[in-house]
Amino acid sequence: MSTSTHIGRRNFLGWLGGSALIGALPGIALAGDNTVKESEFKPDLELELRAAPDKVSIWAGTPTNVWRYQAKVLKGDKRAVTSLPDSYLGPIIRVSKGTKVRINFINDLPQASVVHWHGLIVPEVMDGHPRYAVPPGGKYLYEFEVGNRAGTYWFHPHPHGHTGEQVYGGLAGLFIVTDDEERALKLPDDKQDVALVIQDRSFTRDNQLRYVGGGQGMGGMMGRMNGFTGDQIMVNGRPDFTLKAERKPYRLRFLNGSNSRIYKLAWHDGTPLTVIGTDGGLLAAPVSRPYVTLAPAERVELWVDFSSRKAGEELTLKSLSFSTSNGGGMMRGGMMGGGGGLANGAEFSVLKVKVEKGAAVAGKLPERLASIEALNPSEAGNFKAPRVFSVTAGRMQWGLNGRVFEMEAVADDEVVKLGTTEVWQFENEASMGMMGGMPHPLHVHGVQYRIIERSVQPGALSAWNSLSAGFVDEGWKDVVLVMPGERVQVLIRFNNYPGLFVYHCHNLEHEDMGMMRNFLIKS
Ligand code: C2O
Ligand code: CU
Ligand code: CU
Repeated sequence: MSTSTHIGRRNFLGWLGGSALIGALPGIALAGDNTVKESEFKPDLELELRAAPDKVSIWAGTPTNVWRYQAKVLKGDKRAVTSLPDSYLGPIIRVSKGTKVRINFINDLPQASVVHWHGLIVPEVMDGHPRYAVPPGGKYLYEFEVGNRAGTYWFHPHPHGHTGEQVYGGLAGLFIVTDDEERALKLPDDKQDVALVIQDRSFTRDNQLRYVGGGQGMGGMMGRMNGFTGDQIMVNGRPDFTLKAERKPYRLRFLNGSNSRIYKLAWHDGTPLTVIGTDGGLLAAPVSRPYVTLAPAERVELWVDFSSRKAGEELTLKSLSFSTSNGGGMMRGGMMGGGGGLANGAEFSVLKVKVEKGAAVAGKLPERLASIEALNPSEAGNFKAPRVFSVTAGRMQWGLNGRVFEMEAVADDEVVKLGTTEVWQFENEASMGMMGGMPHPLHVHGVQYRIIERSVQPGALSAWNSLSAGFVDEGWKDVVLVMPGERVQVLIRFNNYPGLFVYHCHNLEHEDMGMMRNFLIKS
């Protein structure tokens, strides 16, 4: 009933004509194809980053057609870029805070694309706004100084209407930042610092990616409204992932790189998780959780001491079951995404850890990790009357305050002043009746924010209770999961760059259908 699309070279050729918009970019001098002519910028690290079709062997037999980022270091430390073995995922870029980075992006996809540096705070023209998407064969020059604190950031495409499809095809990579404060902690590094990207995919019988991002009729509509969920869990681009661990403490950095699946991460034996970091880097101090809720685009860093485990022991990191809706409406029960098979909220194994032989080397986690100032909501000028963004459900269309994305438009209530601090209140209440409600991971570009508080309607407690003990709201965030019937207040300082940025739902099918808006930071 649903319209499915096999991701492969042949099919891609039919999809040309997306949102290829090349406007005049304010602020930088442009040559014909978006390349900056001559600039004062002196990079410490210069890369070429190419997005192109490729093939990867994931299953026995026919290789899988994917879309993939590949990077080359043109200048600077070659070790700044590493790739994940046998993966469709893009490279891991590692830099220190303060590094000046130049990235020559080449779009060798048969669709328009643009790169967004998720979580990094960069000038408007470097942020990958959909209006800067370049057509097939096009280039875009990124130049920015990394100003973020140490943390696990990432990059992915951001062309309007095609982000879900392009990320699903394989386009995503990590951008890991370190700084002096972090280095002084002597956290596990090298082989004991492991990045783990969790995604879900569906495959056809001939090993090709199957994506249901839309289509006509009931199936396509449900796929779009719920978002895509695949039936195969992938870690770093591999199914049935096993981490071979020495008997030492590890730092595990998780990114939920899925289009719409939420994970409820827990050890099979109930051992609590020690969380040391989230979206915007290290927490002030470690916190413990029975499980961790990880919504699309969120990151969480765990400190795990495998020295207390026996050699040969095998651990399973699971995703526990939860519910995404409070009953009623057409989405009651386990939420079935367009991919079918494994509902959002089903229980499954995410990865296995195999503890290797060898002497145990115990480690100690510092009690203080980073200096994070105490949260003071009254620093916001609008503390008493927050700026409200409500999830709305139109005719088979999610929106924000009843609006959907328009490439250049900004409404009066989407303008903030550079240098001010505000409380933004995300509300996911109005849609409850008609659709039964669903969670929305809300993301804001150009900032890192702090979560002030959550409140939930009594009638919405059943879904909320199934995930809330796993929220990690301490520290700096750029995505927050807003459950049905919930409102969440965040404190945002608009003290970085002026310009036109986007805020949106990071359920990528929602984003693509227009659950995204511009906001303007006015200088
Ligand atoms: Cu990770 Cu606007 O996105
Ligand atoms: Cu982002
Ligand atoms: Cu959403």
